[in-house]
Amino acid sequence: MTSEYSIKKSNAHYKEAVKRLPLGVSSNYRSWGPDETLYVSHGKGGRLWDIDGNEYVDYRMGYGPGILGYADDRVDQAARDGMSVGGPTALSTEREHAVAQRIAGMVDSVDMVRFANSGTEAVMAGLRLARSFTGRSRHIMIEGGYHGLSDGVLWEMHHEQDEKGEITLEVQSEGRGVPTLLRTLFETVPLNDSDKIEQVLRTQGNDIAVVLIEVILGNAGGIVSEPGYLKRLRSLCDEYGVVLMVDEVKTGFRVARGGVQELMGVEADICTFAKAMGNGYPISAVAGKREIMSTIGPGGSAQGGTYAAHPVSLAAAEKTLEILDETDALEQIVGYGTKMQEGISQILSARGVEHAWSGHPSMSGVFFAESAPRNYRDWASSDYELYEALAARLIQSGILVEPDSREPFFVSSAHDDSCLNETMEKFERSLGLVLDERAEGK
Ligand SMILES: Cc1ncc(COP(=O)(O)O)c(C=O)c1O
Repeated sequence: MTSEYSIKKSNAHYKEAVKRLPLGVSSNYRSWGPDETLYVSHGKGGRLWDIDGNEYVDYRMGYGPGILGYADDRVDQAARDGMSVGGPTALSTEREHAVAQRIAGMVDSVDMVRFANSGTEAVMAGLRLARSFTGRSRHIMIEGGYHGLSDGVLWEMHHEQDEKGEITLEVQSEGRGVPTLLRTLFETVPLNDSDKIEQVLRTQGNDIAVVLIEVILGNAGGIVSEPGYLKRLRSLCDEYGVVLMVDEVKTGFRVARGGVQELMGVEADICTFAKAMGNGYPISAVAGKREIMSTIGPGGSAQGGTYAAHPVSLAAAEKTLEILDETDALEQIVGYGTKMQEGISQILSARGVEHAWSGHPSMSGVFFAESAPRNYRDWASSDYELYEALAARLIQSGILVEPDSREPFFVSSAHDDSCLNETMEKFERSLGLVLDERAEGK
């Protein structure tokens, strides 16, 4: 794409859409304002087209579901076959057991599985299960983590920086309408600070049902938990009788066949999956140890729903997981992601831009700082304004990244050499434009 980049049709559509759809969209995060919001025509592989006909190499991949790329023929055919069930019947199919078997074979900590439709639902069910199992009510979350739109977890860290560069974080609900009463139900702690979590458990352990963690902070640029921290976290949870719940909605079946638990060598009591497990079809799972999972049901906690294990999504998940388990799709993704990071690093270094990567090659964040962040405060003190300026230029050039620096670059197995070459060329040009603008003080 060149200087002719135009999203006139998207802009015109936005004006109509806002009359019927709040912010003109179906999820707040998709609204980038009247002049920037994009409307999609279609995606294929690692590319996306908007309604103006602009073509993008896509590194958002729907925030992670597109692990095999958009419109994967194998998965779409399986989904079509899934339609032959006739729809949700309010009964179970044999395929649920087959997919649960596959997941248990891929993820060491998983003995049993329950299906739902979204990450939000899976996390909600997992938290309830942990509360029911322990007979306790409260949870611990990590600063910078994101766990979906249910009220108990819909809290974010608002940050302020003073003149000395000192960062302060304050917990706030994401938007209004979340009962303030729920603020009493959780504590937040920084990632990679096991003393802090121990302190909370020592003083409040009897009330805490569960520690809820994204081991790679997939909604804060991919900040990674350190191995020593994870080890201590695991033993602290055992010591205080607290459930360790690993939210693998982004990392699951992406960073390794056995998810972030395999990658980082940590074993959860409960874990949640969504996104990559269905290559875009709406399906999620709450899974974990038999001792805990088998308490779901009468006398234990409730889980289910009209669309749980929807036959179309389930068939798509069966095929997606088969491909991820039995082919080298994940190795291809790592190969691409590594080359992408190296190429971008070369371009940045050639222009003297200090930067560091975080996360995993399949979902990595680039930080404009001396070293990779260890926690959310470190992200807040990085030069995320440079990222934002660069992201705007990249999008206009045909490289679709998230405007917000906290969302990592997602790679699919459909990203190929043509995507990579185009990315390098356009990254170099976009960076040049942004640095020139900065030099001119714009
Ligand atoms: C770690 C994590 N948990 C939960 C969710 C919520 O998933 P969903 O958007 O499918 O409800 C997300 C979404 O990005 C996520 O990244």
